[in-house]
Amino acid sequence: MKISAVIFDLDGVIVSTDEYHYKAWKSISDQEKIYFDREINERLRGVSRMESLAIILSHSSKSYSEKEKQLLAQRKNDIYCELLNKLSPNDILPGVINLLVSLKARDIKVAIGSSSKNTPFILKQIGLTSNFDAVADGNSIKNSKPDPEVFLLAAEILGVPPEECAVIEDAQAGIDAAKAAEMKAVGIGSAANCLNADMKLSDLTNLDIDQLLEVNEIRS
Ligand code: BG6
Ligand code: MG
Repeated sequence: MKISAVIFDLDGVIVSTDEYHYKAWKSISDQEKIYFDREINERLRGVSRMESLAIILSHSSKSYSEKEKQLLAQRKNDIYCELLNKLSPNDILPGVINLLVSLKARDIKVAIGSSSKNTPFILKQIGLTSNFDAVADGNSIKNSKPDPEVFLLAAEILGVPPEECAVIEDAQAGIDAAKAAEMKAVGIGSAANCLNADMKLSDLTNLDIDQLLEVNEIRS
């Protein structure tokens, strides 16, 4: 099956926001006197805001009401958005622009499939708002990765069957979501270790576009 659309995760694939997420969650954890470190932060990759909070609160002996959880998530997001104000096109990760240009030249559709509700703001900050044919994000889905909903929605907006889509991801939850959607899964960065990724790369600068699009595959 030839690939006719590529769906990009946003955080960790298009732009590195990890440090901002870490700083914002660290600030909330410190205020609440909850243990939090970079290893726990890794588990938040690709996971929704409220599910991330649940992972953090699992390290506390205190029980939080729904209202308190909503307030903590809001406080975290306020700190995170303040940090996102610093984001600029210089923060686009290596290989992204070249890949977008190459895909456009081959008439391959491109989409964002992200769990983040801040997707529109991040795309604006890095100047890529009008570079995608579809955006599916945390604002338009009920179930976060590893559920396939966000990628299936992106494919539906593009009008491309899931099996013709390739997903580029930096999180195990995202690779699992892509496979659940029956899409090709490309793991980069920390997802390069995912056993179920179809292609594994350290970053997008060494991506073989023919291999991504399966143009050399002998079709029956
Ligand atoms: C994902 C990040 O892209 O978005 C997660 O990898 C984050 O770490 C999730 O929790 C939700 O982000 P936001 O911006 O809606 O809080
Ligand atoms: Mg990611």
